[in-house]
Amino acid sequence: MSHESVPLPNKASCPHIVRAPTVIAMVGLPARGKTYISKKLTRYLNWIGITTRAFNVGEYRRAATNSYKNHNFFRSDNKEAQEIRTKCAVMAINDACKFLDRGGEVAVIDATNTTKERRRMLVHHCTEQHQFKLFFVESVCDDPNIIEANILEVKVCSPDYTGQDKNEAVKDFLQRIEHYRHTYETMDDATERDLSYIQIFNQGERFIVNKLAGHLQSRVVYYLMNIHVLPRTIYLTRHGESAMNLLGKIGGDSDLSERGWAYAEALGRFVEEENIPQLKVWTSELKRTIQTSRYVNAPKEHWKALNEIDAGVCEGMTYEEIQQKYPEEFALRDQDKFHYRYPSGESYQDLVARLEPVILELERQENVMVICHQAVCRCLLAYFQDKSAEDLPYLKVPLHTVVKLTPVAYGCRVEFLALDIPAVNTHREKPKNTDVTRGSSDALFTVPNHE
Ligand code: ADP
Ligand code: F6P
Ligand code: PEP
Repeated sequence: MSHESVPLPNKASCPHIVRAPTVIAMVGLPARGKTYISKKLTRYLNWIGITTRAFNVGEYRRAATNSYKNHNFFRSDNKEAQEIRTKCAVMAINDACKFLDRGGEVAVIDATNTTKERRRMLVHHCTEQHQFKLFFVESVCDDPNIIEANILEVKVCSPDYTGQDKNEAVKDFLQRIEHYRHTYETMDDATERDLSYIQIFNQGERFIVNKLAGHLQSRVVYYLMNIHVLPRTIYLTRHGESAMNLLGKIGGDSDLSERGWAYAEALGRFVEEENIPQLKVWTSELKRTIQTSRYVNAPKEHWKALNEIDAGVCEGMTYEEIQQKYPEEFALRDQDKFHYRYPSGESYQDLVARLEPVILELERQENVMVICHQAVCRCLLAYFQDKSAEDLPYLKVPLHTVVKLTPVAYGCRVEFLALDIPAVNTHREKPKNTDVTRGSSDALFTVPNHE
């Protein structure tokens, strides 16, 4: 399997002063959350604008051979299988290095890397043959209940066990882990002291960090120290319909409309029916989100960081007025909506940077309802749904709808729950014609409710 033909994702929000391509290599026995961490970290780094891709050695192995019949494949004395595994690891590392050579910024090697020899091989390829930075992330877990739960959650559904009985798959996987245990060497603070790494013990109960090298690694460590795997639900919603929504005007700080207030009441009832333990409610500092939270019976916090995108000189205008007064600006926004910054205002890219602390705090918390705004909701949803910078500003988040996010396996389930209170549509699709010389009918073609 090769990732060579896959185009690099769009650049997003990070200003890059120094280019420091980095390989992050996972370490740990099977079912220690390595793939979970790889995917989650990759999603986060891409969201903050650092072009990142994960390379899973298990996938290379499955593409290279169908010889996985049972756990014996992973015995340390299985010479033939060992050769295949080393070959697959080298293929993944080579693809990761090619990705970084072509402009990628972080490559995550999702493999066990449980021997010093394997880790030396990574040092050789990444830091001696190429001058990449290398950071190891080891997950150590000795709680049999966690391991069994992990196996049941993700491993029994792995392509290695297609069509097999669940209990047999669990038994086989536990034996697979035992084979690895024979040769497992954890990161060693004597002989591997010169390496940069973090060790995570029992899902974040304790951490050891060694030789952090640079800004990116600090950010990765900060992120890994803030995530948790407790079951919980996050609810996202926009404020109820506002007086300015009714007029098609953007921005401002208006009150809710009559239907907006009806949504606030419906939201109160919704939360009561969901019966959510220890729920916290976060709103922006604008009146319309605070009013929307009025009937929700839970402690509330107001975040300036959750305020709607600042449309600068266009605040308070309709899309028609913007087209009339600033036709060129309006077209430039349509050409690259993620990066476009309103004069004296913000871009979606700015918004992602402003929302990063909110995401980090959301990761730390358990049940939270966030009441915010169209552009803010799009940014938050893009993080959870792993959407590109190009798609992000066009995500559909209708008024009077609760987005319910529940963690499952490696991602989260997303449900859109419309609360059945009518509201205007504020979603403007990207028009076909984005040229600065276009006429107003082309420019306004996708404005909702436009005559
Ligand atoms: P691996 O890649 O190590 O074989 P997976 O990532 O496939 O393991 O395992 C996924 C499971 O690991 C998920 O159920 C997730 O809740 C759990 N998990 C996530 N982080 C950790 C951690 N730090 N330690 C142990 N388990 C974890
Ligand atoms: O129209 C409601 C609104 O929340 C405005 O305040 C904001 O400028 C706009 O949506 C953001 O959506 P878009 O980026 O699609 O213009
Ligand atoms: C695998 O083949 O599933 C795997 C994780 O490989 P390795 O242990 O060789 O990294």
